[in-house]
Amino acid sequence: PGTLGEAAAAKGRVFGTAAAQGHMGESAYATTLDREFNQLTPENEMKWDTTEPSRDSFNFSAADQLVGHAQAQGMAIRGHTLVWHNQLPGWVSGISSRDDLLGVMRNHIAKEAGHFAGKIDYWDVVNEAFQDGSGARRDSVFQRVIGDGYIEEAFRAARQADPDAELCYNDYNIDGQNAKSNAVYAMVQDFKARGVPIDCVGLQAHLTLGNVPSDMQANMQRFAALGVDVHITELDIRMNTPADGSKLATQANDYKKVVSACLAVSRCTVMTVWGITDKYSWVPDTFPGEGAALLFDDNYGKKPAYDAVLAAL
Ligand code: XIL
Repeated sequence: PGTLGEAAAAKGRVFGTAAAQGHMGESAYATTLDREFNQLTPENEMKWDTTEPSRDSFNFSAADQLVGHAQAQGMAIRGHTLVWHNQLPGWVSGISSRDDLLGVMRNHIAKEAGHFAGKIDYWDVVNEAFQDGSGARRDSVFQRVIGDGYIEEAFRAARQADPDAELCYNDYNIDGQNAKSNAVYAMVQDFKARGVPIDCVGLQAHLTLGNVPSDMQANMQRFAALGVDVHITELDIRMNTPADGSKLATQANDYKKVVSACLAVSRCTVMTVWGITDKYSWVPDTFPGEGAALLFDDNYGKKPAYDAVLAAL
């Protein structure tokens, strides 16, 4: 009984979803959002290409609408994301002077985090700065032109612009312990030691069927032990489509494992799925032949995974 948000709240957690302003006019979309979730992450509306498409010219209208909706519903809000190599406008990727890019990044953070200051519970300050399969930094204009220090500069600028938001580093394939999550761990440890403002680590948790890392809880626990909160920020569990009963049962068990792991770690405070319905999931567009990754099907019906999450909460 109850809803995901109510069940999570009873455990001192929030249960959220990504949502897109473009779908809010669809009544089943908005109704399901409002009924089940108590945290909202704008799926694309706060990304650099949308908010600052040309230099120092800002547009927050779509994000403002989502933020207004979330506030009216009493939902927590995750800002996503201030610094990322994707959905970055060409005018930024073309900058080659270090001073120029550092100034542009600081201005972007000051204006965007400043615009939403007081309304954002958690910011994904920097997204996906590490490579898969190694502890190396991902190549990006920020890494190339500013160097390793761009991440801490971004966190300092975010703290200044919005002192009340929890500031997170967010990435994928850091759900279990591996070379990439080891590198993020080392960075957070270093930031804590040097007083760089960081409050949380976001594990995106874009997972594939049957592959919840067995050490996910241990991984969350080691981050928590550094003195940061841990958030599951973009949870989905994709399968080869079409779905069938057996795959949906495996998926339900996978979701249960993730929720149980989070609940076992007191600093795992936020769980967020990356979309309300399979109908609008990013998965089929990005991973052709895969999909059915979320808790509600194309018709907003509750999937076995929904029941499993509700039962686990
Ligand atoms: C995705 C959105 O869901 C899509 O609509 C968009 O076309 C591409 O980006 N990691 C992230 C998210 O941090 O911002 C991405 O969102 C999914 C992967």
